[in-house]
Amino acid sequence: MANDRRPDDMVRITTPELADAFIEEQLEALRAQIGDKKVLLALSGGVDSSVVAAMLIKAVGQQLVCVHVNHGLLRKGEPEQVIEVFRNQMKANLVYVDATDRFLDKLAGVTDPETKRKIIGGEFIEVFAEEARKQDGIEFLAQGTIWPDILESEQGIKAHHNAGGLPEDMQFELVEPVRILFKDEVRVVGKQLGLPDNMVYRQPFPGPGLGVRCPGAITRDRLEAVRESDAILREEFARNGLEGKVWQYFTVVPDFKSTGVKDGKRTFDWPCIIRAINTTDVMEVTVEHLSDELIDHLVQRIISEVPGINRVLFDYTPKPPATVEYE
Ligand code: XMP
Repeated sequence: MANDRRPDDMVRITTPELADAFIEEQLEALRAQIGDKKVLLALSGGVDSSVVAAMLIKAVGQQLVCVHVNHGLLRKGEPEQVIEVFRNQMKANLVYVDATDRFLDKLAGVTDPETKRKIIGGEFIEVFAEEARKQDGIEFLAQGTIWPDILESEQGIKAHHNAGGLPEDMQFELVEPVRILFKDEVRVVGKQLGLPDNMVYRQPFPGPGLGVRCPGAITRDRLEAVRESDAILREEFARNGLEGKVWQYFTVVPDFKSTGVKDGKRTFDWPCIIRAINTTDVMEVTVEHLSDELIDHLVQRIISEVPGINRVLFDYTPKPPATVEYE
């Protein structure tokens, strides 16, 4: 299964019926591959790993061990939703690791963007490997590899982000049930597997999470300002019918302060930058223009509800020249 290729004549999965047929076929293949052995999965809560988890829970139930690592850089409510959906509703065997302190302690004082990314990626592998070692009898590693990942790694655009990374002594056989699917197909399959819409239609979220939206050295208070303002933005986009329509939207809290005034007293706080963009391939992006009413409302909510923010700015820069993320 790990070496499957997408057949040239495969019909694009766009309907519940096609998704059901794919799921049936995969469940059978998964049971044949895994037998009575155990499978390990790093479950981030993103679309691909969530769909893989839902599929494996159906195929092999308690033989699946999901590990959800909270690196402290997740969006508000995300770890809670993973626990609610997978442990409480789907009855999965889920190990939840709150590694927030470990990550934030390692990142303290680190300003260089690439070093921050390396620390987050390296620490993630370490935490995951530690949890894997605590489990007996794991023979398989499940991954949310999708077809564009395979194509891009074959074309040399980017290294295949999954497989690599685990220590030498931890080589498992791979299980990749959505490997031949495009992203839109993964979503249709996820919906058929009963995952909630806000998981299935989730906007892209970088691996280093809110860490790249807290430019420079991450501090807990500024990270909290990013998390709270992001939650307000997502809530308002959902209320205003923009969820699922705008490709990606988020807030950034840069590491500088400016003077303001609140209740007759001087403040010296951070600005919050709002970025909302549309794209098809993420190589070029355009800016989503919001209504004046929505802008006013967002500004009011963010300055009154998020501690440490006294100014809201909008980033109206396309890519190129600006990248989507700030680091
Ligand atoms: P940039 O900033 O390069 O972002 O214009 C393009 C898209 O990629 C996402 N992104 C990442 N996704 N790991 C990911 O999984 C990462 O390290 C990462 N960095 C950027 C970004 O959110 C945008 O959708």
